[in-house]
Amino acid sequence: MKGIILYKSKYGSTRKYAEWLSEATGFKAVETDKADLKEVEGCDTVIIGGGLYASGMNGLSFLKKNIGMLKGKKVIAFCCGASPYEETYFKSVRDYNMKDAIADIPLFYCRGGCDLKNMSFKDRTLCKILIKSLAKKDPKDMAVWEKAVVDAGESAYDCTDREYLKPVLEAIGS
Ligand SMILES: Cc1cc2nc3c(=O)[nH]c(=O)nc-3n(C[C@H](O)[C@H](O)[C@H](O)COP(=O)(O)O)c2cc1C
Repeated sequence: MKGIILYKSKYGSTRKYAEWLSEATGFKAVETDKADLKEVEGCDTVIIGGGLYASGMNGLSFLKKNIGMLKGKKVIAFCCGASPYEETYFKSVRDYNMKDAIADIPLFYCRGGCDLKNMSFKDRTLCKILIKSLAKKDPKDMAVWEKAVVDAGESAYDCTDREYLKPVLEAIGS
C-alpha cells in the first residue's frame, strides 16, 4: 500500500500530527500546497489534515479540486482545532466542511493548541476579541468550546496528543 499525508498547518499543530502519522505509517508527509499531483495520483491512500479557522478546515480546497483524481483511493481527513472534542461541535464542523462531492470522506478531530504570542497580529486580535466577547456570557450557557476559550484566556496551551490519531490509524488500516 502506497500512501501520502498532506497537511496545511499555520502554527504547527497539524504538522505535528502529520509527522506522527508519518512515523506510524511510513507514508511521506508533505505540505498540501507543495504536493506533487503525480505523486498523489500514484498513492492508494491519501490522508489530508488541516487546522480549523472559524470552523473551516485549512487546505480542504485540495480535496474539492482533485476529487476526480482521488476516486477509488482511500481518502481520510483530519482537522485540528483548539476546542476540546465535543460531539455536537464536531458534527457542526463536519457538516460545514464535508459537503457535496466530499461528503462521504471520513473526518477525524485532533486537538491542537493556542499560543497568542506566536500568532500573526490579525489572528491574535481575532482571538482576543473572541475571548472578550465570550467572557461576557453566563458560563452555564456556554458551549464546551466556549468555556475552554474563556478558561484558557490568553495563556498558551498545547493539547496535541498521539491518542487523537488512534481512530485515524484504525481507518488507514481498515
Ligand atoms: C483566527 C483563528 C480562528 C480559529 N478558529 C477555530 C475554530 O473555529 N475551531 C477550533 O477548534 N479552533 C480554532 N482555532 C484554533 C486553531 O484551530 C488551533 O490553534 C490549531 O491548533 C491550529 O492548527 P495549525 O497550527 O496546524 O494551523 C482558531 C485559531 C485562530 C487564530
